Amino acid sequence: MNHFEELEGAYGAAAFMRFPLTLVRGKGPLVWDSDGKEYIDFMTGYGVALIGHSNDDVARAVSEQAAKLITCHGSFYNDVRAEFLEKLARVTPKGLGKALLTNSGTETVEAAIKLARRKTGRKRIISMKGGFHGKTYGALSATWSKKYRDPFGPLLEGFEFADYGDPLSLSQLVDADTAAVIAEPIQGESGIVVPPADYLKQVREICDRAGALLILDEIQTGLGRTGKMWASEHFGVVPDIMTVSKGLGGGVPIGAAVTTDDVAGSLKGGEHTSTFAGNPLSCAAGSATLDFITKNDLPSQAASKGAAMKSELAKLASAHKLAREVRGMGLMLAMQTRVDIHEQLLASQRRGVIFGYSGRDTFRFLPSLVIQQSQISRGIEVLGEVIGEEEARRFQ
Ligand SMILES: Cc1ncc(COP(=O)(O)O)c(C=O)c1O
Repeated sequence: MNHFEELEGAYGAAAFMRFPLTLVRGKGPLVWDSDGKEYIDFMTGYGVALIGHSNDDVARAVSEQAAKLITCHGSFYNDVRAEFLEKLARVTPKGLGKALLTNSGTETVEAAIKLARRKTGRKRIISMKGGFHGKTYGALSATWSKKYRDPFGPLLEGFEFADYGDPLSLSQLVDADTAAVIAEPIQGESGIVVPPADYLKQVREICDRAGALLILDEIQTGLGRTGKMWASEHFGVVPDIMTVSKGLGGGVPIGAAVTTDDVAGSLKGGEHTSTFAGNPLSCAAGSATLDFITKNDLPSQAASKGAAMKSELAKLASAHKLAREVRGMGLMLAMQTRVDIHEQLLASQRRGVIFGYSGRDTFRFLPSLVIQQSQISRGIEVLGEVIGEEEARRFQ
């Protein structure tokens, strides 16, 4: 254990499952530890470093804004916030021109739930089995995993779960007291699960028939990650409320519940605010991030790099008995295995590659969209090595 690990252990609550690495620097798709060792980052804080670590444009925007005005409560107008909101509205799906700004993913989901209940005057929220929306009480109530829910009950009333990908299961739950259906267009935390092609359209229809709102949680899938700006575009569906966060600030905390004029108009001034929401520092980072994404057409980059990476992964999987399935779209990919991969994650880190995971048996790949082909190939080479070693141990 190094000095920093000892300090965090002594003074930080043990809230996270930890890897034995102290990361101190990052640039683009790479990070470095406190000993100066370089890593290719396929985890990126579960998708946060979407435009790369310490992007120059974001760093410049943040430092200039920090010298000018760091905080400005939402009770006042602000130049940087205004410009960021306009930029966000330019890239969101048609009709979703209003944003309620927040500071994290889970807070964005809280905002979406409150907007849905406020707009409809109804109580029930139907979520999806396998869904993940965050760990504060509202978002946690919409999250499926028992591991996150059970220690903290009672959760909010009125939440129920449909089978993801099965419109019949959903239609049996949605009724005249349903405020909203909330779903990820591709489930992230539960292992990059892509629903059947026509599923989200059917979900949209079920919501429309019942007068319920559709909330699509694009916190992990959004901003180009899946090869289009929004994953919902792959399925031809526009929600009533869309949640965005993770990569939106280039690494700086920010989120946005994006919605229609009509839904946004249901909130009265003061009903749902927070001290830091829409602060100039995050908004400056958000503007620089959106500019970078559009200027470099990162959704197309994710589509082409992701397609190449997926076929390399599929090749690797077909050559290894321990690999089961490769899933995903764009640069949101996963490889499920037949084993607990904890040791393989550590072995990859020793070789200079950081992979994320979903559950115990699935590698999750959410690299920066600026990653280079050679770095993708090196990652897959290391993956092949660590899986090969595990196979040698088991089958010799
Ligand atoms: C789809 C989705 N929604 C919500 C969240 C929660 O975001 P945060 O961790 O910023 O609260 C996450 C985080 O992984 C997520 O993937």
